Amino acid sequence: MSGEQRTRREFLVGLGAAGALLASPWPGAAMRGQEGIPTREIPGTGERLPVVGLGSSKPVLEIPEAGTEPLRAVIDVLLRHGGRVVDTSPRSAEIDRQFGQVLQAPELRDRLFVAAKINTEGAESGVAQMRHSQRLFGRPVLDLVQVESLRDVDAHWPNLREWKDRGEARYIGVTVSNVSAHDRMEAFMRAERPDFAHVNYSVVETESEERLLPLAADMGMAVLINRPFMNGTYFSAVRGRALPAWAAEFDCETWAQFSLKYVLAHPAVTCVLTETTSTEHMDENVRAAYGRLPDQATKRRMRAELAG
Ligand SMILES: NC(=O)c1ccc[n+]([C@@H]2O[C@H](COP(=O)([O-])OP(=O)(O)OC[C@H]3O[C@@H](n4cnc5c(N)ncnc54)[C@H](OP(=O)(O)O)[C@@H]3O)[C@@H](O)[C@H]2O)c1
Repeated sequence: MSGEQRTRREFLVGLGAAGALLASPWPGAAMRGQEGIPTREIPGTGERLPVVGLGSSKPVLEIPEAGTEPLRAVIDVLLRHGGRVVDTSPRSAEIDRQFGQVLQAPELRDRLFVAAKINTEGAESGVAQMRHSQRLFGRPVLDLVQVESLRDVDAHWPNLREWKDRGEARYIGVTVSNVSAHDRMEAFMRAERPDFAHVNYSVVETESEERLLPLAADMGMAVLINRPFMNGTYFSAVRGRALPAWAAEFDCETWAQFSLKYVLAHPAVTCVLTETTSTEHMDENVRAAYGRLPDQATKRRMRAELAG
């Protein structure tokens, strides 16, 4: 893939396989020459990732009650727009077996970029989680393996390095989702130079832009974003409030897109993960990637809008 856009052929292949859930990805897309959401480079590799992905926790945890259909449906919407990134975290063997069946569906398996995590104490148990994900997701090679919330990272990191050297993990990284962990994250990034830094960032939780995002850019790391909606509490804060008319100046139609476009306007961000069980929400969220993004002055205005 070259440039910000996918080729027309790749996009049409995506349309055929995912099913035409929507008549057009975004009304302004054709006008702007966009045929799928933009992609950004994983620094220094030439590989590009679409800028919106799925944080799968909620639909995966609902598998026991809801089955895999809602999860499959949100992934189909993501693919429909040219998205690829699915972030995961180890769950029970039964849940991950069913999740793995979705990830291994012939029409999906080679189109997804699957990010896995280690979130346990002790090196041995971290290795067991890696084997669990490889086996149940049917992927001897995981696209990205991350140590979640830096938990026991000193024990796990040498193994992640080894998996990368052996080709079992294409990329390795670490995550945080709370500002209280940003100092540790910064120190880890400086010392170990992970391929991916995965951090919390939104129009309300803006702290990552102070040090972590500039550092990732300086050091040439890819960046995944979690909590663009603060796990849903963002929507309580904006409930009942009218979206400012000036949001139309950067092609923003909803409050969800307001936070996502704020995040995507940061040049260090590679891909923002949004977690949802709803195809409508997935569609709304991924559409944030089309069209214009706010500039610095507008970002200040956006922060002020929600601070007031
Ligand atoms: N330490 C870590 O590594 C870490 C920590 C947290 C998160 N994460 C990653 O980040 C992902 C995102 O999780 P998050 O906590 O950051 O969640 P989030 O995306 O900030 O918020 C998810 C919540 O927002 C709702 N939502 C999504 N789109 C919406 C829309 N357009 N309109 C209204 N409601 C909407 C969802 O409910 P509906 O189902 O109703 O849409 C869900 O309750 C996780 O799945 C995980 O992959 C990683």
